[in-house]
Amino acid sequence: MRGFAGKVAVVTGAGSGIGQALAVELGRSGASLAISDIDTEGLAHTEEQLKAIGVPVKTDRLDVTEREAFLLYADAVNEHFGKVNQIYNNAGIAFTGDIEVSQFKDIERVMDVDFWGVVNGTKAFLPHLIASGDGHVVNISSVFGLFSVPGQAAYNSAKFAVRGFTEALRQEMILAHHPVRVTTVHPGGIKTAIARNAGAAEGLDREQLANMFDKKLAMTSPQKAARIILDGVHKNRARVLVGPDAKILDLMVRLTGSGYQRIIGASLGRMMPRPT
Ligand SMILES: NC(=O)c1ccc[n+]([C@@H]2O[C@H](COP(=O)([O-])OP(=O)(O)OC[C@H]3O[C@@H](n4cnc5c(N)ncnc54)[C@H](O)[C@@H]3O)[C@@H](O)[C@H]2O)c1
Repeated sequence: MRGFAGKVAVVTGAGSGIGQALAVELGRSGASLAISDIDTEGLAHTEEQLKAIGVPVKTDRLDVTEREAFLLYADAVNEHFGKVNQIYNNAGIAFTGDIEVSQFKDIERVMDVDFWGVVNGTKAFLPHLIASGDGHVVNISSVFGLFSVPGQAAYNSAKFAVRGFTEALRQEMILAHHPVRVTTVHPGGIKTAIARNAGAAEGLDREQLANMFDKKLAMTSPQKAARIILDGVHKNRARVLVGPDAKILDLMVRLTGSGYQRIIGASLGRMMPRPT
């Protein structure tokens, strides 16, 4: 991978999955890293991998929902490295449950982490990215930011919101002639801990949901996902689709318009475990 030598990159949720793979791949490609997570054990493992290949790394516990802490963190990273070029707003959680049986607090929690976490990270780092003269915001949405499925309303809402926010930001940066590129990433099923870490509405079997994700939906390794994302960032793509499933589903939605709901409701909807 070319194009990352000398860059300072920030990755949230870097203690596992896509975030960990992104941090390692960026480090291998010559970037210096600021990594954070609430999972300090996973984060320490990422730090070890980066140090083993000689990458300059700043490691912090950061909860992306804590706005004040995020603002202070952005200043601290800038101070530490002298500049910041890229932020990967990657930290995220999942939740399964029909709207009828989901609690307000469960929907709010997903929005707090998956949407507001991205807003906090983007706004905290934007002044530093502009000041760097060579910035890039990379926000991780999902294929669930391209179409909705039954049982994923909270996650769908957050990931559609990330897409709306990020696509507006890209246009704003261009209109303002700011030196900040902007990319929205839509992964399909990636083999990470996301389903094992996910919440679920009462009556749903979390183990069964996680097994279904691992066996039927997770297709792409996090390492491969990281390489696809960084290739898209290098090429300044507005939208990066990760995995063959993401490409096929995106095409289906574009070909069928709102008609996709009938197809998905009938097929994917049947696969989802129902409350017992
Ligand atoms: N795995 C997939 O199939 C898939 C598909 C589409 C999108 N995504 C998105 O990719 C991103 C990374 O997910 P992943 O699959 O690597 O999952 P993962 O569970 O392996 O990693 C997510 C990381 O985010 C951290 N995190 C959770 N809440 C946090 C918070 N409040 N503050 C800071 N860190 C927090 C977790 O501790 C974990 O280390 C997420 O935004 C997810 O929604 C994943």
